[in-house]
Amino acid sequence: MPAIDQTLGPVAVTGCSGFTGGHMVREMALHGYQVRACIRDANSWRGQDAVNYLSSLPHVEIREGCDLFIEGSYDDAFEGCSAVFHVAAVLGNSADGKSQPLGSGDVSTDIYDGGLKGTQNVIDTINRANSVRRLVYTSSMAAVSGRKAATVDAGYVWTEKDWSSDGVEAQRWLHPANSYARSKVETEQLINQAGVASEGRWDAVTMCPAMICGPILFKAQVGQWIEQIGRIANNESPNWPSPYDMYYNIIDVRDLVKAHRLAGEADIDHATTQGGARYLMHGSGGRSSLLFSEEVRGIIHDFFPSFQLGLPQPIPNREGVPDSDGKPPKPHVINDCKKAKEVLGATIRPVDDTIRAVVETSIELGVIEPKLAA
Ligand SMILES: NC(=O)c1ccc[n+]([C@@H]2O[C@H](COP(=O)([O-])OP(=O)(O)OC[C@H]3O[C@@H](n4cnc5c(N)ncnc54)[C@H](OP(=O)(O)O)[C@@H]3O)[C@@H](O)[C@H]2O)c1
Repeated sequence: MPAIDQTLGPVAVTGCSGFTGGHMVREMALHGYQVRACIRDANSWRGQDAVNYLSSLPHVEIREGCDLFIEGSYDDAFEGCSAVFHVAAVLGNSADGKSQPLGSGDVSTDIYDGGLKGTQNVIDTINRANSVRRLVYTSSMAAVSGRKAATVDAGYVWTEKDWSSDGVEAQRWLHPANSYARSKVETEQLINQAGVASEGRWDAVTMCPAMICGPILFKAQVGQWIEQIGRIANNESPNWPSPYDMYYNIIDVRDLVKAHRLAGEADIDHATTQGGARYLMHGSGGRSSLLFSEEVRGIIHDFFPSFQLGLPQPIPNREGVPDSDGKPPKPHVINDCKKAKEVLGATIRPVDDTIRAVVETSIELGVIEPKLAA
């Protein structure tokens, strides 16, 4: 019963002024779905920028005033919908302690509450709508690996059975710095329980992406990993999450939203699949640990050899840290979307395409103006 198609009514997408949400609307609209694009504040510059772009797509209706912290604010948007793609989260562009007028002002509290309380509001609206068959939730690899990565053997392959909360002592798990991972783990549990409680009216499925990169559709989407790739192409150093070198585990946003759509359309009971109703999405092109200073930068150089490129700073030596070459320790785990490919038919493009698309669209939208080497 829960699978969806274009004939069963509109679908709603939350967080459409964001990177993934904007792409999610595009994916569904291009596949013939009527899409309700939920925006928090259509008058903010991000909201306006998003509305300008989304309005150019076919079959898209903008719904504004949808705030995770306002009970009932999704009621109008979800009415009559067959599915909800719940992509919005308090993070990235909006987790700065200032951009949540209804939040607490404390970043970690807002991230956690945006997940839990925000998703409870989404669930309550789904139950009231009485037409939704499936909720597709965007979680994160932060709910899968996280602190657990330090405890697994070399060559370990992450699967849908892994939870980042496994074996982590309470003090570390409950620490404010861990609020994002905690929010994602508990929100996955919340939606699964709510789906079961709906007694067959709707079910829930979760996608767990790593670092989401790919083409930028409109300027308001710039942030997080795509902004850092753009900075390197623009002869700047990264500035988030730190200026230092690190490994990137990329998933292309186009592959990710396609997998979301396929998860919505799959005529299966996701809960009975290996590891339950969740799908890991990472390791684009089979290259899952790309050193920013060498491999990511090298790919940019291959496509744009005339650009002057920025460089992350080497990690400073600290007592007790054996690494003295300024590089982070190489991750010894394997990242792959095996289950998503086998069960959903997800496809994963080469990561070179993803990185090239970030740079090309950053230039096209005027986000960066690369300098040519002398
Ligand atoms: N980026 C990554 O690499 C990554 C990795 C793993 C998982 N994820 C997950 O993927 C999803 C999308 O991430 P993203 O990077 O695409 O995010 P993003 O670009 O930062 O967009 C976040 C979206 O959520 C909306 N939002 C924020 N606070 C809200 C509120 N109180 N009520 C309603 N909407 C609100 C934002 O709207 P405003 O414009 O109004 O602020 C924006 O549309 C999130 O669930 C995130 O946890 C992301």
